[in-house]
Amino acid sequence: MTDLTGRIALVTGASRGIGAACARALAAEGARVICTDLLAPTDLAEEIGGLAMAQDVTREADWAAAMDLASGEAGGLDILVNNAGLFLMKPVTETTLEDWRRLHAVNVEGVFLGCKAAIPLLTARAGRWAGGASIINLSSIAGLVGSAGAVCYNASKGAVRLMTKGLAMELAPAKVRVNSVHPGVIQTPMGDEVVAGFSAAAGIGDNEARTLLAQRHPLGHMGQVSDIANAVVYLASDKAGFMTGSEMVVDGGFTAS
Ligand SMILES: NC(=O)c1ccc[n+]([C@@H]2O[C@H](COP(=O)([O-])OP(=O)(O)OC[C@H]3O[C@@H](n4cnc5c(N)ncnc54)[C@H](O)[C@@H]3O)[C@@H](O)[C@H]2O)c1
Repeated sequence: MTDLTGRIALVTGASRGIGAACARALAAEGARVICTDLLAPTDLAEEIGGLAMAQDVTREADWAAAMDLASGEAGGLDILVNNAGLFLMKPVTETTLEDWRRLHAVNVEGVFLGCKAAIPLLTARAGRWAGGASIINLSSIAGLVGSAGAVCYNASKGAVRLMTKGLAMELAPAKVRVNSVHPGVIQTPMGDEVVAGFSAAAGIGDNEARTLLAQRHPLGHMGQVSDIANAVVYLASDKAGFMTGSEMVVDGGFTAS
């Protein structure tokens, strides 16, 4: 049991996939969770006794509204999970500047705006907990190693990795810990996009691509959303109280060799 009773969390991109799993897992440990996505995840919020709001992470005004909800109805903020993200699989020569900017607006600017907006609230309550407050940024194995056809995504997730470390340095005196999580391929709608992109690039069917991708993880299979949610819950908790600026790799060994 990782007790998060009394903590208030915000998870972006919480409608489905990893975000929904993180919201459920944080709530199961006692946190009150604000679930946000482009369309408000009202059913999920009702299921877990949290709050829902519509939020585009690329819009600074939406972040201000999210912080108003946190400081008002929710009562503050202790945990921020910057999870919302987009994937793109295209060779660089076919990637438009518009593609590049759209992906970076969500994957990089969204994380920057979220951290910037949340720092005052996180700092205000960090002293309540032995492990302080916690920001968890979803990077990827693609933020650690290159992948042909995913250069734009590589650049965005690499930026998240080092933004996390810089923020960890900046916020350590305030007892706000900042860590990144680096999933392997996880079975979500985005995981399906990865499979489809891989199959198109290799000229093979989706089933074969899924098998080959699974085999690239030494443990022999892709990950489940619970694998990532467990890591996020740990990083949010006092058990990770001496961890900041770290990269938690949850990839079945994909990047180990
Ligand atoms: N699934 C994987 O294999 C995998 C691997 C490594 C890293 N990740 C990262 O984990 C995170 C979650 O991935 P997932 O697989 O659950 O993705 P997903 O595509 O299944 O879900 C992403 C969610 O983000 C939301 N979103 C997109 N743009 C948004 C915006 N501008 N504002 C608010 N919400 C927005 C979507 O509506 C969606 O609900 C992402 O950051 C992704 O890059 C995923």
